[in-house]
Parts: sequence; structure tokens; C-alpha cells
Amino acid sequence: MPSSSSSSSSSSTYAQAACGFLFLLLLLNPNFSNKATAKHTHSSSSTHHHRQRPTDAAATNPRLHSAYLALQAWKRVIYSDPSNYTSNWVGPSVCNYNGVYCTASVDDPETQVVAGIDLNHLDIAGFLPDELGLLADLALVHINSNRFCGIVPQAISNLTLLHELDLSNNRFVGPFPSPVLALPSLKFLDIRYNEFEGPLPPQLFGMGLDAIFVNNNRFTSTISSTTLNGTGASVLVFANNRFNGCLPPTISQFADTLEELLLVNSSLQGCLPPEVGYLYKLRLLDVSRNRLVGPVPYSLAGLAHLEVLNLGHNLMTGIVPDGVCVLPRLDNFTFSYNFFCDEEGACVNLTSRGVRFDDRRNCLPEKPLQRSKELCDIVAEHPVDCGQRCTGGNAAGFVDGGAFAPFLAPAVAPGPT
Ligand SMILES: *[C@@H]1O[C@H](CO)[C@@H](O)[C@H](O)[C@H]1NC(C)=O
Ligand SMILES: *[C@@H]1O[C@H](CO)[C@@H](O)[C@H](O)[C@H]1NC(C)=O
Ligand SMILES: *[C@@H]1O[C@H](CO)[C@@H](O)[C@H](O)[C@H]1NC(C)=O
Ligand SMILES: *[C@@H]1O[C@H](CO)[C@@H](O)[C@H](O)[C@H]1NC(C)=O
Ligand SMILES: *[C@@H]1O[C@H](CO)[C@@H](O)[C@H](O)[C@H]1NC(C)=O
Ligand SMILES: *[C@@H]1O[C@H](CO)[C@@H](O)[C@H](O)[C@H]1NC(C)=O
Repeated sequence: MPSSSSSSSSSSTYAQAACGFLFLLLLLNPNFSNKATAKHTHSSSSTHHHRQRPTDAAATNPRLHSAYLALQAWKRVIYSDPSNYTSNWVGPSVCNYNGVYCTASVDDPETQVVAGIDLNHLDIAGFLPDELGLLADLALVHINSNRFCGIVPQAISNLTLLHELDLSNNRFVGPFPSPVLALPSLKFLDIRYNEFEGPLPPQLFGMGLDAIFVNNNRFTSTISSTTLNGTGASVLVFANNRFNGCLPPTISQFADTLEELLLVNSSLQGCLPPEVGYLYKLRLLDVSRNRLVGPVPYSLAGLAHLEVLNLGHNLMTGIVPDGVCVLPRLDNFTFSYNFFCDEEGACVNLTSRGVRFDDRRNCLPEKPLQRSKELCDIVAEHPVDCGQRCTGGNAAGFVDGGAFAPFLAPAVAPGPT
């Protein structure tokens, strides 16, 4: 998995959530193979060798036969499997296949079905065949860190029980995989580190997903109240896409659930809306490496659970507010590479509060490693009117051609400014 602040900081929550789900599955279905959980605690794949064979009856029901057809079709379009992980995908006993997990069906406890597929970190190259639609009992599919390529087949919209889909760190291309929008049970969607392009569909946020990872693709959405309109998510990770637009006030619709919001390097413009401060469950807020302007909203003082705040590499101005610096859980506050001109109260000495921080390259008169007075003076002469930034006008016109433009080092605004 390529590492980045965005993926590493969030994957822990995701993994916990995933394990929580597996635990749930075990509670609901005592027959669910417990090596699935073992896999998630990073045991080696050798656990697969100590498994009991299911009975012949279990190996031959019609649903397992459909699964057999699907898995054989999949094996035919696997062109490289360096660890020979799928070499035992032979014969009708699909529950014995490496990476295939069976459990009692939710609608018929007497019937074994294929409920999980876990091929994480195997460097397998191949495609996803249409026959995957036959695996209608799947609850989870984890195929991260492989070389699966092509598009995600329409047929996966048949997987009505699918709860978790992790396609991350593969080579999928094409527009956002719209078949996932039809999955009624989906809660976790991880498609980061692929080559998906074009806009994110607005329906994505209205599905009630718990975790959405779309970072490190080639998405080009304009973020707005229409596109970021939904509820229910605890983790939203958008980093490293070619988005634009402003973080809309509708972000507050996620207030009852959102714990991690990562919008790193997403070409965000305008001011941070005060509604970010309504996300009272946030533990991690990272909006670094964008073109945000204006002040830190005072409402951020309401984020009582906030541990990590990264505002670095933007064009923000004004005062670093005391209300943020005294947040009880704050552990790491990065606001370097902005144009902040003063610090209030506790912000002056964050060390004394045990908060790790980075305040370099601002306009803080008493601090070392700040920007030049010339640059700071020019920026101070051009106050930002947040009300004008994202009301349909072209915020980019200001940012790209405004007071900041001649002074923007590449580190502040990557791209041809
Ligand atoms: C996989 O199987 C091929 C052919 O049987 C063999 O040459 C290769 O060494 C095997 N690789 C591993 C990692 O076992
Ligand atoms: C969808 O799943 C059903 C079983 O629930 C199966 O009969 C059908 O063939 C599947 N459709 C596709 C397109 O795979
Ligand atoms: C948000 O979505 C709801 C339906 O889910 C819709 O009624 C509403 O108009 C949308 N709001 C915006 C600003 O697009
Ligand atoms: C920012 O995202 C773009 C893709 O939109 C990527 O090419 C670039 O490397 C990213 N920059 C950083 C610093 O990660
Ligand atoms: C604080 O967070 C930033 C990015 O959010 C990270 O680069 C830095 O390593 C963290 N600092 C410490 C001391 O953990
Ligand atoms: C910050 O506070 C610590 C102890 O609370 C003190 O040792 C240090 O000198 C202070 N730093 C500044 C720059 O005032």
C-alpha cells in the first residue's frame, strides 16, 4: 500500500470497523470461518492449511455451485498470481479455496454460502469477470493491493448483501464504478489508489455509507452542496484528486457521525465554512495543501474530540484562535505555510500544552522561520470576504490572479500559478 498521511491515518479506523463487522458476522453466523478474523489481525496465510474440510453436502448445494462457476470464471482471467494463492481454486469445494470464506446463509441456516473473499496484498494481476454477479451471498470483498485492472463489471450490482468492498491499490480505470451505487447493504467503500476519473456521483453521499475512501484517483468533481450532500459517514477521505470548489455548509449534515475528514490536496478554494465546527465528533481534520483563504472559523473551538488538525499549505489569514489551541484532545496542530499574522492565548506556546505543532512560514511577528515582511504586508492589504468566495462566483479568479499569486512558491500551490 503506498503510504500517505491520508491513508495511514484513516486505515486504522477502517480496519477496526472492518474487524467489528467480521465480529458481527461471527456472532450472527457461528459457522463463519474464524480464519477470516485471523486474517485481519495480520496472521500469515498459513492459517489456511489448518482448516477442516466441509462436508460433501455443504460442498454441493446450488448456491455453492454458482459460486464455483463464478470463481472458475475469475480464475480464468487471473493472469499472474506470484504466490500461487489461487492454485487450490480447483474442484467444487469452494469453501476450501484460499481466500474464500463460507458461512450459513442469512436466509437459510442449513445452507453454506460464500460470504467473503479476501485476496488482499497478493500482487495478483487480472480482471473482474461478469460472473462475479453469481456470488450473490457475498458480504465482503477485499482485494486491495493487487494488479486487478479494467473496469468494475455492472454485474456486481447483483451483490445485494455486500457490506464491504475494498478495491484499493489496484489498476481499475474508467468513471466512478456506478454499480456500487446500487448495492443496498454497502457500508464500506474503499476505491483509493486506482485510476478512476471523472466526477463523483452525488448519490455516493446519500447511500448512508459509513466509510468512503476515494483518495488518490483522478476524480475531477467540483465539491459543492449538491455533490457533498449526504449523511451517515464516519470517515470521508478525498485526498489527492483533481477536485475543485469549496467545502460546502452541507458538510454539517454529517455532524452525528463524522470522525475523520481528509481533503488533502483536493484543489479546495474559498473559506472553511463555520459549519465544519458543527462536526462535533471529528478526531481528524486535514485540509492541507489546498487553496483555502480566510480565517480559521471560531466554531472549530467546538470540536472537543479533535486530535489532529492540519491546515498547512493553504492561503489562510488572520489569527490562530485560542479556542482551537485549548481543545482538550488536540495533539498535533499544523498550520505552516499560510499567512496567519497573530496567535491568541494558548496558541503562543503550544509546547506548554503538550501539543505538537508546525507554525513555520506564516506572518507571525514573534516566531522564527516566517515569511518576509514584504509578502505579509501585501497579503494583509487584501482582506478576504468569505461571503464572496463560493456563492457561484469564480473563487479561482481571485486565488489564481489575486494578491497571493506572484508570491506563491510551488510548495504552497502546486500547479501553474
Ligand atoms: C508457483 O508455481 C510455479 C509453477 O508451478 C512455480 O514455478 C513457482 O515457484 C511457484 N511460486 C511460489 C511462490 O510458490
Ligand atoms: C444474480 O444473483 C442471482 C441469485 O441471487 C442469480 O440467479 C443471477 O444469475 C445473478 N445475476 C447475475 C447477472 O449474475
Ligand atoms: C440533498 O439531497 C436531498 C435528497 O437526498 C435533496 O432533497 C436535496 O435537495 C439535496 N440538497 C442539495 C443542496 O442538493
Ligand atoms: C496532489 O494531487 C495530484 C493529483 O490530483 C498529484 O498529482 C500530486 O502529486 C499531489 N501532490 C502531493 C503533494 O501529494
Ligand atoms: C503532525 O501531523 C503532520 C501532518 O498532519 C505530520 O506530518 C507530522 O509528522 C505530525 N507530527 C508529529 C510530531 O507527529
Ligand atoms: C513555553 O512553555 C514552556 C513550559 O511551559 C517553557 O519552558 C518555554 O520556555 C515556553 N516557550 C516560550 C517560547 O515561551
